[in-house]
Amino acid sequence: MINYYDDLILLLDASSAPYSGFNVASIVVDKDGNSFKGVNVESVAYPTTMCAERTAIFSAIASGVKSGDIVEVHILARNIDKKIMRAFPCGSCRQVIAEQSKNEATIYVYASKKDVLEHKISELLPNAFFTLD
Ligand code: THU
Repeated sequence: MINYYDDLILLLDASSAPYSGFNVASIVVDKDGNSFKGVNVESVAYPTTMCAERTAIFSAIASGVKSGDIVEVHILARNIDKKIMRAFPCGSCRQVIAEQSKNEATIYVYASKKDVLEHKISELLPNAFFTLD
């Protein structure tokens, strides 16, 4: 696993979060080792905001990654006081991560460069909803 902390720190500045002040950066990796970036993008119509993890995954798919071929999801967040804090993916992102990794992705949640928690998506979303084999 590559440690993406330095890239994620830089990526946080691309986050557009004028309403919450909570910046999230995500880098996803496909089965061939290609990486794709995402940040949260907020909307004044709050529910239309998009999370960093899904932005990264949708960017990967739009770039030609085959659905189901995501293998890693890296996440770093910074709160309104500019403090780096650990943030796990929300429920909606967990569903998309499960679907786009055939339920096999590893999620890396950073609190610092050296403090990285690692979880399988199947731990974070047990019994994920699927309709296809
Ligand atoms: N957010 C993410 O980017 N990823 C998550 O998994 C949870 C929440 C964003 C959405 C919103 O812009 C901000 O964090 C505060 O909820």
